[in-house]
Amino acid sequence: MSLQGKKILLGVTGSIAAYKSAHLTRLLVKAGAEVQIIMSASASDFITPLTLATLSKNPVLSQFKKDETGEWNNHVKLGLWADLFLIAPVSANTLAKFANGLCDNLLSAVYLSARCPVMLAPAMDLDMYQHPSVLANMSKLRSFGNQILDAESGELASGLSGQGRMMEPEHILLELLRYFNSSQEFKGKKVLITMGPTQEALDPVRFISNHSSGKMGLALAKAFQERGADVYVVSGPVSLEVEKEKFHWKDVNTANEMFRASSSIHPQMDICVFAAAVADYAPAKVSEEKIKKSDSNVILELKKNVDIAGELGKLKKINQIHVGFALETENEKENAKAKLQKKNFDLIVLNSTREEGAGFKLDTNKVEIFQGSGQSVSSEVSSKDVIANLILDQIKTIPVWI
Ligand code: PMT
Repeated sequence: MSLQGKKILLGVTGSIAAYKSAHLTRLLVKAGAEVQIIMSASASDFITPLTLATLSKNPVLSQFKKDETGEWNNHVKLGLWADLFLIAPVSANTLAKFANGLCDNLLSAVYLSARCPVMLAPAMDLDMYQHPSVLANMSKLRSFGNQILDAESGELASGLSGQGRMMEPEHILLELLRYFNSSQEFKGKKVLITMGPTQEALDPVRFISNHSSGKMGLALAKAFQERGADVYVVSGPVSLEVEKEKFHWKDVNTANEMFRASSSIHPQMDICVFAAAVADYAPAKVSEEKIKKSDSNVILELKKNVDIAGELGKLKKINQIHVGFALETENEKENAKAKLQKKNFDLIVLNSTREEGAGFKLDTNKVEIFQGSGQSVSSEVSSKDVIANLILDQIKTIPVWI
């Protein structure tokens, strides 16, 4: 895979991560891309234009006019020239400008003029990254169709540790390679994804559930869709921003509803990925009225729920692929491998609640993927989008697929 002949406009803004844009530029040029760099004024406090001009083999732009000649740097032309506009690192300040249409420098003028896809790789301290205003700006930018390359977790310039590091240049390169080289290898394939939690009612106002946000399942749905598949999602209750029209989307609440919805389409599916965190037990009796508070303790009787992946695993045809997840707190590998056999999976994705940056609710995950043959691959802590694509890459190595 290469970026041969691709025109990449690289925006660099004021962040300590700007030093990484030198390495990123080198990787892009090495992959065959033509790179034109635009820096914000504060970016040059962190890295010199000369470094980036030398590595990109092009003069670096930052002003509307060229100093010596007074000649105009045409932002419209730049926006139209690019096949892709990547801003890495993008600071909280520039995110806010882009989200709100501010246009006070060359970079933001090019952003407003660009017709090509835009990818943004934020970098900031962990509390800034979680601030509601930054989250709202990122969500707004996503709604414009921009792709946010989620920040990675680790040590930050402040000395704190958490999510906020710019996605590593190698991972950004991978995202670009995927974007340009996506060969639609899942075209014509029907894929079922179960995702999110299930809610099992106790009475009209209470339920048993778990912390699944649906983020991992949604990342998988998007990855399959981007790589050509026809995606059927059966989702428990989640509160994610989703363009449901891109998928065949079915919302459910309980394990039984998820089972019914999944079984009805299972025979037509080529690939099924069971990413849902299905409640293993449900209250044996659902009270029709709200259970009243009393002075004594309440003992709940729970009944076992249907094992969706297990039941559909029994019906799996020779040309179908089933992928399971395992969320473990102890004896991780042994338990995951046992589930792979028991539920007739071709592949199981192990994520542990003990790993920092992995599991429920986070935008990141860290997984080990086991094949039936015993082979396995491990990931670093990466965005759930990156993990989803890694899972798809592994699915492609399953003999049924080849
Ligand atoms: O949703 P997020 O916040 O992004 O978090 C992602 C995740 C941690 C929920 C996800 O990555 C994950 O691990 N999902 C499976 C969690 C789980 O229920 O694991 P399990 O070990 O209990 O189940 C094993 C497999 O059987 C899973 O594929 C599960 O979907 C399936 N299963 C389990 C029970 C059941 N009754 N029916 C099932 O289909």
